[in-house]
Amino acid sequence: MHSVLPLEPVTAPAIPAHLALPALLAQRSATRGFTDQRLPDGCLEDLLVQARRAPSGANLQPGEFISLEGDARARLSSALVGAFRSGAREAEDYSYFPVPMPHSLRRRQVAAAQALYGALGAERDDRAARDAQFERNFRFFDAPTALLVLIDARMGSGCYMDLGMCLFALMMAADAQGIGTCPIGAIASYPGLVRATLALRDDQSVVCGLALGYADPLAPENAVRTARRPLEDYFSVMR
Ligand SMILES: Cc1cc2nc3c(=O)[nH]c(=O)nc-3n(C[C@H](O)[C@H](O)[C@H](O)COP(=O)(O)O)c2cc1C
Repeated sequence: MHSVLPLEPVTAPAIPAHLALPALLAQRSATRGFTDQRLPDGCLEDLLVQARRAPSGANLQPGEFISLEGDARARLSSALVGAFRSGAREAEDYSYFPVPMPHSLRRRQVAAAQALYGALGAERDDRAARDAQFERNFRFFDAPTALLVLIDARMGSGCYMDLGMCLFALMMAADAQGIGTCPIGAIASYPGLVRATLALRDDQSVVCGLALGYADPLAPENAVRTARRPLEDYFSVMR
């Protein structure tokens, strides 16, 4: 006889999901300015359990999350800011963007950057202002909660897709509770430094960071809204 595994507790959403999700998706955007208000006790753990309901190929459930606090967070931010300021470069654990970036995609990348720096009043040639904002990636935008997202180095590309679903589920679960998020791929630029600073194993690949907290309504960077490709650009029907 096979044993029945106990079900993990999943918090029931206050609003029926079929009503809440379209509204949540329509209003979601990256949060890069946070108030000091901390997440309630147990909230992060609850969000992570909800996020793990995300599907994954063969139910492998790849990826792990480390909440960085106190000295560990301070040491990591200091090391990353130092590396960024010194212009240090390392090989990433995984390739994110196409190299070279095709012109059509580069336009999108520039538009997103312009929207952010424009909201902050940083002119295109104001390198100091742009660098100051970029450095905030490495301080997790001073969010009350800073997560490091890792994956077993043996995992294939498909497992990154699985982890992405889990990450987005985490972001939406947070959003549903009025908690803003920003994924931070910039952290994956220094995987060796992250491992060395936090004494992680070599087989723990660095995927990204995630900042979580309550959005500061006065932070201009939170007013940024990015455009999306029109449906006909990425959807077609074949018969
Ligand atoms: C995996 C991932 C990594 C990201 N890394 C960064 C980052 O390092 N710094 C940053 O400011 N935004 C980062 N973002 C946020 C994107 O810039 C943002 O999602 C995109 O411009 C669309 O804007 P929106 O989220 O406000 O709709 C990342 C997003 C994702 C999904």
